[in-house]
Amino acid sequence: MHVYVRYNKKHALLSSMIVVGGSSSRDLAKELAGILGCKYIQAATTRFPDGECYTRIDSDNLDDDVVIVQNTYPDGNLVEMFLLQDAVNRMGAKTITLVIPYFGYARQDRVFRPGEPESAKVMSKRLAMLADRVITVDIHKEDVLRFFDCETKDVKASSAIADYFKERDVDIVLSPDLGAKDRAKDVGTRMGKPYDHLEKTRISGTEVSIKPSNSNCRGKNVLIVDDIIATGGTIIAAAAQLKKEGVKNVYVACTHGVFVDGAVQKLTGSSLDGVLCCNTLENELSHISVAPIIAEALRPKR
Ligand code: R5P
Repeated sequence: MHVYVRYNKKHALLSSMIVVGGSSSRDLAKELAGILGCKYIQAATTRFPDGECYTRIDSDNLDDDVVIVQNTYPDGNLVEMFLLQDAVNRMGAKTITLVIPYFGYARQDRVFRPGEPESAKVMSKRLAMLADRVITVDIHKEDVLRFFDCETKDVKASSAIADYFKERDVDIVLSPDLGAKDRAKDVGTRMGKPYDHLEKTRISGTEVSIKPSNSNCRGKNVLIVDDIIATGGTIIAAAAQLKKEGVKNVYVACTHGVFVDGAVQKLTGSSLDGVLCCNTLENELSHISVAPIIAEALRPKR
């Protein structure tokens, strides 16, 4: 197992860092390497005819501090991460940092019913077997980081979202539920705008109900912020409620656009006036880059 090597002056040279981009995060990894001014290698990942993953890093050796950028969602990407970890280790990486922009399985962080596995723990323990450090972005439950037997850091996308919307016409920042109220506070504070939260009740996996808001949003431009959009049910219900209350425009920004079951079509065809996400998952709506905040976390502390 790798022993985490603390950055010292000699070790702190960014030219000694190599960023390897897995297939889930090629654009993000390339941008990250550009910001850090270090070498970028794109893993050549393909699938065998039966669907199994094949990957290769085209380099003589990797005798440096290696950063692998790859999601652990969906499952195929998790397998690719395991293979990349082994490849960089074999090629002589001095240290291995995993940047996991969207960490899958963070919602299954405990045994809810007897007979279930502790999924988040299973994945974290295995990933940490060949890692000195793990960096995640807005992990759904930060508590999950305790399962990694290595150094961890969760970076917050609030600053990237606030920067993106700073020059835009937003009057108030809302979260769709109590659980995300700190996110609304963080984004609102950074933008110098008021913030509040809505109250959500989950009815089923795809349906939610949203109570009337406590803030007077009539005639205002509202920005809703959330960590994940999956089916889009939460955001569509929140926007519909706000429109009933006479809101002028509803914009949405989330960190992870998971977008299942035709969510993009549902969202773009709904009463929303704009929806964007960060590039933790690369898709047609991922226009807010988290590369600068990840680069900040990777830069050695002076
Ligand atoms: C809930 O805890 C999360 O923060 C999101 O609000 C939720 O995952 C969104 O799911 P959906 O888009 O399916 O409503």
